[in-house]
Amino acid sequence: MAIEIVPLAKADIPGAVECVQKAFSDDPYFRWAFNDPSKFNIQRNAASLAAHFEYGINCYCPISVAKVTRATTDQKIDREAQLQSGTIVGVGWWYSPQPSSTPEPWSIWAQSWLLSFRQFKNNVRFLGRGGLNLSRYWIWKEVQQEAHDSLWTDPRGYYFCNMVGVSSQARGMGIGKRLMESVMERADREGMPCYLESSKGYPNVTIYEKMGFELVREIECADKGDVCKLYCMIRFPKIKS
Ligand SMILES: CC(C)(COP(=O)(O)OP(=O)(O)OC[C@H]1O[C@@H](n2cnc3c(N)ncnc32)[C@H](O)[C@@H]1OP(=O)(O)O)[C@@H](O)C(=O)NCCC(=O)NCCS
Repeated sequence: MAIEIVPLAKADIPGAVECVQKAFSDDPYFRWAFNDPSKFNIQRNAASLAAHFEYGINCYCPISVAKVTRATTDQKIDREAQLQSGTIVGVGWWYSPQPSSTPEPWSIWAQSWLLSFRQFKNNVRFLGRGGLNLSRYWIWKEVQQEAHDSLWTDPRGYYFCNMVGVSSQARGMGIGKRLMESVMERADREGMPCYLESSKGYPNVTIYEKMGFELVREIECADKGDVCKLYCMIRFPKIKS
C-alpha cells in the first residue's frame, strides 16, 4: 500500500471527517465531552467537523491528509486490503504561529464568525449540538487557554497541532510521523517551536517524544468529579548539522 501526504482540499473533507471520527472514537477527551452516548448524533458531529475543516482551509491552516494511492492486492494482508485507493487514513491539522503582539487578522476574525454561523445552522438543522456537553466544552476551553497563557512564552508564537489522527488499521506504519513532519520540518527551518495537547497519555506521550516533543505539563478538565487529563507537549526547533 502506498500513501501520499497532500494538503487538505475541499473534496477531501467528507473522507477526512470519517477518518477523524473513527480515529478519535476512543479518545478520552471525546468521551469526556460527549459523555452521554445515547445523545451522540454522528451526523451532527460530522457537520461540525466539516464546518471546522472548511474554516481551516479558508484560514490557510497547514492541514494535510494521508491518502491511499495504491491499494494492495495481497488478500493475505487483511487490514490493508480493506483500504481502497483514495481512502483518507490520516489527518494532521496545525495552526500557524500567531505572534502575541499582533492582533488577530480581520480575515481570521471573519472566518470565526462564519464558522459560528455555520454551527448555528447545524444546531437548527439537527436540533442541538448532537450530544456535546456544552458546559464541559467551556471548561476545556478555559483550562486550555490558561495553559497557553502560561506555557506559550515565545512571543513569536507556536505551530499548534490542533489534531492528528490515523485510522486504526494504518497505525504504526509511520503515517502519523509523516503528517507531523510536514509542519515540524518547516518549524525547524524557521527556528520555531511546536506545541500539542493529547488526552491519551499512553502511548501518545512516547510517540510524540520520539518526534522530539517534551512533556511540559499535565492539566485537568474536571466536571463533578469526572476528570479529563491533557498532556501538554512542546517541541523546540532542531538545528540540522
Ligand atoms: C497518535 C497517532 C496519530 C500516531 O500515528 P501513527 O501513524 O500510529 O504513528 P507512527 O507510525 O508514525 O509512529 C511514530 C513513532 O512512534 C512509534 N510508535 C507508534 N505507535 C507506538 C506505540 N503504540 N507505542 C510506542 N511507540 C509507538 C513508532 O515506532 C514511531 O517511532 P520511530 O520514529 O522511532 O520509528 C495515532 O496513533 C492515532 O491516530 N491515535 C489515535 C488518535 C490520537 O490519539 N491522536 C492524537 C491526539 S493529540
